[in-house]
Amino acid sequence: MTAPSSIHHVALGDTRLAVHTAGSGLPVLLLHGFPLDHAMWAGQEPLAEHLRLVVPDQRGFGASAGPGPASMEQLADDAAALLAALHCGPAVVCGLSMGGYVAQHLAVRHPDRTAALVLVDTKLEADTPEARAARVDLAAKVGRLGQRIVADAMVPRLLASSAEARAAAGRADLEAALHEAILRQPVATIQAALAALGARPDMTAALGQVRVPTLLVVGAEDAITPPACMEAAVEVMPHARLLVVPRAGHMTPLEAPGVFNRAVFEFLAEAGVHPA
Ligand code: MLT
Repeated sequence: MTAPSSIHHVALGDTRLAVHTAGSGLPVLLLHGFPLDHAMWAGQEPLAEHLRLVVPDQRGFGASAGPGPASMEQLADDAAALLAALHCGPAVVCGLSMGGYVAQHLAVRHPDRTAALVLVDTKLEADTPEARAARVDLAAKVGRLGQRIVADAMVPRLLASSAEARAAAGRADLEAALHEAILRQPVATIQAALAALGARPDMTAALGQVRVPTLLVVGAEDAITPPACMEAAVEVMPHARLLVVPRAGHMTPLEAPGVFNRAVFEFLAEAGVHPA
């Protein structure tokens, strides 16, 4: 971390969350995607020069103890309780993919905790029946074959696939880091999260009522939640603006950290949430 960082362990009911914090000032909660942990936000460390980063491993992931998630609502309640436990005022709630689903629920269920929203490489819609069936299939396979099957299936789809992106410096390191991150998540957490992801509701109507300033970010080459998902979201969210990041896939903050961090700063300044 650019600013000194510390790790806390926060007991919340039946779980104990590991959370990294750095910096001071306006809190920014960074919620990781599936099946990853806080480490995917390494490229956001420079934000801690001006903001207070709060970066948990969500229940069952990374160094957090306890069972895996039962629902996106439960993860949102965990995140709200975590902000309270750390004495944070209303936060900028930023989530990628699964973290974006959690961020949406947090904004709806805990509006008093949400100063602004940043939804990254995610969508508002529920799973199709086919997507749900694929998750059931993957949960069975990971039970038989272990995390490697998930890593092998997901890593090639997480990053931008154009020849230019594949040839970029540091690409092999990114692939290796994602692979390792998936391998360190417990099988039971992956299975619980797959069920919770498949059961999540459509949030389109609820997000239409969200009043806080919102930044939507998507990689132009996102193969999992393509730009059309965020283009649909910006149509229904009256306080949202959309940024499509070239040469990024599903992991925009990791693939294009400079562009992403600048966009967050500019958004917070323009929305009057944080001085430039
Ligand atoms: C994620 O990156 O968090 C997942 O791909 C989300 C999903 O499978 O819907």
